[in-house]
Amino acid sequence: MVSKKRVAILISGRGSNMTALIDACRLPDYPAEIVGVGSNRATAPGLEIASARGLETFSLAQSQFVDRDAFDAALTQKLDAWNVDIICLAGFMRILTPDFTVRWAGRLINIHPSLLPLYRGLDTHARALADGARVHGCTVHFVTPDLDEGPTIMQAQVPVLPGDTPDTLATRILVEEHRIYPEALCLLASGTLKY
Ligand code: GAR
Repeated sequence: MVSKKRVAILISGRGSNMTALIDACRLPDYPAEIVGVGSNRATAPGLEIASARGLETFSLAQSQFVDRDAFDAALTQKLDAWNVDIICLAGFMRILTPDFTVRWAGRLINIHPSLLPLYRGLDTHARALADGARVHGCTVHFVTPDLDEGPTIMQAQVPVLPGDTPDTLATRILVEEHRIYPEALCLLASGTLKY
């Protein structure tokens, strides 16, 4: 097989999507390998999981930098040091600068817990329930300068059931997130997707 694409994952929290990507990349025929995990929060539980799996990690705190440009420049430096081909945002709760997203265009993807273009931003499950949505879901998309606006790569739907709460809906959708994120990365890393 041709050489695997070098993937970095950026997280802010527990890292369950990160773990799904790490697991997929361990399959021999998968076209990507995880080279490291970065976070904007030193206490993100996912960092410990990544370390326990033998991956390099880093964390960068906004407080160490004068502005967003300086933060994203430091992020780029870390990713360049790993010779990264593709970046996967996996619960990375931070808006990246337009310069950063343009530099990585077509090689920077995100998972979002809604059927985009519905419910960009935060609290997607509560908002879907408040609207009386009958279906909800998740989306893997390319990241562009506008928040949650980039081209869709893959989506999964789940029905909204009577009695659902934001938590029950989140739990059901997370199962789908863990399924479609590795599938979408596989498509990108194998060169099947055109940006
Ligand atoms: C996931 O549900 C992901 O879709 C969401 O954060 C969660 C992270 O969970 N991402 C966003 O809301 C991005 N706007 P995880 O850390 O267990 O993967």
